[in-house]
Amino acid sequence: MKFGYFDDENREYVVTRPDTPLPWINYLGCQAYFGIISNTAGGYSFYRDARLRRITRYRYNNAPFDLGGRYIYLRDDHSGEFWSPSWQPTRHKLEQYFCRHGMGYTVIGSRYSGLEASTRYFVPLDENLEIWQLTVTNHRPHAAELSVFSALEFCLWDAQDDSTNFQRNFNIGQVEIEDGVIYHKTEYRERRDHFAFFACSEKIAGYDTQRDSFLGPYRGWDNPAAVERGRSSDSVAHGWAPMGSHHVKLSLKPGETRQIVFVLGYQENPRDQKFDPCDSQIINKKAAKATIAKYLVTANADAAFEKLHLYWNELLGLCRVETPDAHTNRMVNIWNAYQCMATFNMSRSASFYESGIGRGLGFRDSNQDLLGFVHMVPGRARERILDLAATQLPSGGAYHQYQPLTKRGNNDVGGGFNDDPHWLIIGVGAYIKETGDWSILDEPVPFDNAPGSEAPLYEHLQRSFRYTLERLGPHGLPLIGRADWNDCLNLNCFSDSPGQSFQTTTNKDGKVAESVFIAGLFVLSGREFAEIARHRGLAAEASSYLAEVAKMEATIRKHGWDGEWFLRAYDDFSRKIGSRENVEGKIFIETQGFCTLAGVGLEDGLAVRALESTRKLLATEHGIVLQQPAYSKYYLEYGEISSYPPGYKENAGIFCHNNPWVIIGETRVGNGDAAHDYYTRINPSAREEISEVHRCEPYVYAQMIAGRDAPTHGEAKNSWLTGTAAWNYYAITQWILGIRTSYDGLLIAPVIPKTWRGFKVSRKFRGVTYHIQVQRAGDGNQVCLELDGTPIQGNMVPLPPAGTSSVAVKATLR
Ligand code: BGC
Ligand code: NOJ
Repeated sequence: MKFGYFDDENREYVVTRPDTPLPWINYLGCQAYFGIISNTAGGYSFYRDARLRRITRYRYNNAPFDLGGRYIYLRDDHSGEFWSPSWQPTRHKLEQYFCRHGMGYTVIGSRYSGLEASTRYFVPLDENLEIWQLTVTNHRPHAAELSVFSALEFCLWDAQDDSTNFQRNFNIGQVEIEDGVIYHKTEYRERRDHFAFFACSEKIAGYDTQRDSFLGPYRGWDNPAAVERGRSSDSVAHGWAPMGSHHVKLSLKPGETRQIVFVLGYQENPRDQKFDPCDSQIINKKAAKATIAKYLVTANADAAFEKLHLYWNELLGLCRVETPDAHTNRMVNIWNAYQCMATFNMSRSASFYESGIGRGLGFRDSNQDLLGFVHMVPGRARERILDLAATQLPSGGAYHQYQPLTKRGNNDVGGGFNDDPHWLIIGVGAYIKETGDWSILDEPVPFDNAPGSEAPLYEHLQRSFRYTLERLGPHGLPLIGRADWNDCLNLNCFSDSPGQSFQTTTNKDGKVAESVFIAGLFVLSGREFAEIARHRGLAAEASSYLAEVAKMEATIRKHGWDGEWFLRAYDDFSRKIGSRENVEGKIFIETQGFCTLAGVGLEDGLAVRALESTRKLLATEHGIVLQQPAYSKYYLEYGEISSYPPGYKENAGIFCHNNPWVIIGETRVGNGDAAHDYYTRINPSAREEISEVHRCEPYVYAQMIAGRDAPTHGEAKNSWLTGTAAWNYYAITQWILGIRTSYDGLLIAPVIPKTWRGFKVSRKFRGVTYHIQVQRAGDGNQVCLELDGTPIQGNMVPLPPAGTSSVAVKATLR
């Protein structure tokens, strides 16, 4: 069953009924001002940091779901009837409803009682504000006298404090109202130099800024007193809950259409120019007023929307594919690339599942996300890499997370996740391969943000690599620390008290438990680093890295192989995890995927066997589960993984993030059918037909789909912010379609299904557009290349001479 349809031409998903199984959201903004918006206008906005600079309020885990948003009420002033054109919050039964989620914008519209109303929400490029363009048409045979009310609730900036510290917060809320514009200035009188504004293009009949005056005592957003009586109370917030609401009177002749523009924005003032007059406590509104005046004009708002549209056209035009599979095309050309930008901007911080206060930007997460977006915004990728590297510790370890506003490592979580440092090598490698910008390695970057500690980025990578060598366990495998990629495999935690953090409680000295996963990661990152060193002319250093890699591979073979698959880890008692010797958790996906993608066991058949075991023991119709058999009880020595009920999250859920590792592994052993089949099982577009089972948005990947042990097998959760976006994009474009960036040029190495006759890709790479056409002439994966009509040896397209704008590549597969 579906709840809408894809409009690929317009790059939109069109939701056709408001009561989707879960709020289906979209993101507004792609630079500094961001918001999430659901298909019924729920959501919130923030500047840079969803925790520290939250602009509007939202209520997570509320009943009903998804309250707090960018709301508009229409009221028929003749009958007194009122409703929300976006369905929430009044939830009137609408005669027609649609929500179009597009690239950086959302349009929600409906028809009720002869009145059509739709609102386009978006954030213009290079501005710290959002625009709501409301268009109302009267289809009645007679005139309509209407009242329009806008409504949003301001957050008192720090979202964590806002939702907990009521003894203070009920006292500090402050606003100003001038020329119909509502300014939210809580704490501006003291240490803040920023405020928010909410403006409306029409002359207003009234306003409200105190929530209780607008709603009336003991009433909810579904039934505000001001809307019911058709009149605002011109309330001024002093403490309690500041909000913004305008009341506009609208007379529409039969057939008439009118537009109202609302602008919600964020403004910073220089510290010494906060007030006007300067000895007053009144906000200096000069800069804000100019911005407001500009965007309240429909033509300017339209022009900004057009600019945004062109921006996305350009980004999504950088890599375009035409394969025999419509779901592949739709995801690669539109939604997967778009989701990669969202994960880049948000990391795991703000979605319907991530409250924006829990986590900043993850070190491993953000480095992995690079794989999916570096071709779109290489300049910002560079900046991200340098920010991440600056949170690396002198030991080579890293803060697990950092706050985007302060760019400082998060002390609550700290470091000690022993896989973290290697992802920096993977991220930097991806960046250089895409851009050819070797200068990044010479950038001076501090450790732990300490001034004076700067060292070239290259040295950061050296320390990343060494970090593991200095932390090997009894079998010569890397010590796991607090956790490796699997944040829930906490082998040094031994937590027996409710409420303890599995990630940061560490009861063991950590000298025993080892990770085969980090060993596989070390092989991958070590090879990458050796190549980087070789290109820098450091041949001896490169060989020493390769020697360490070879040693680690031998160790994996000796102590990391269980007979039919790769082991997962050794626990604090040096007992195997992910072995046939275990009663539960006999086989894990991470090492089968990561070791094979890293190339471990390609020559001696271990890779093929690991992948066969994966297919036999872990694959389901909804994707590949993380481990089997699921843990049926809590294992003190394993930590959070066994805290989840069987089939959910890391305890044998389909953790989509690591499915692409197996997909890439399958391409490495030449199995294009299996690779694409696995890809399709978790492809949300291919799952659209079963939306009542999948329940999350059909246009983006979810972190998790309930595994076969779960009563709700096939049900997705935690959509949007997941490493699945980057890894799947990387797996399909660079490994299945095989258009792969390398230090010396573009590799063409497709491993596609046997039934595909071929495909086309146009891909911009280092300023040159490659028009690539692949044709099948046999069942295999062997590639014969022609470059602009001339056959060339091997499968690498060498970098064309400077000034070349496009090349034509023909590849024949035999
Ligand atoms: C989740 C993990 C997550 C970790 C750290 C756990 O509860 O299951 O997926 O990485 O928390 O935030
Ligand atoms: C989500 C976290 O963001 C990521 O860092 C981790 O690797 C996975 N969960 C698996 O635990």
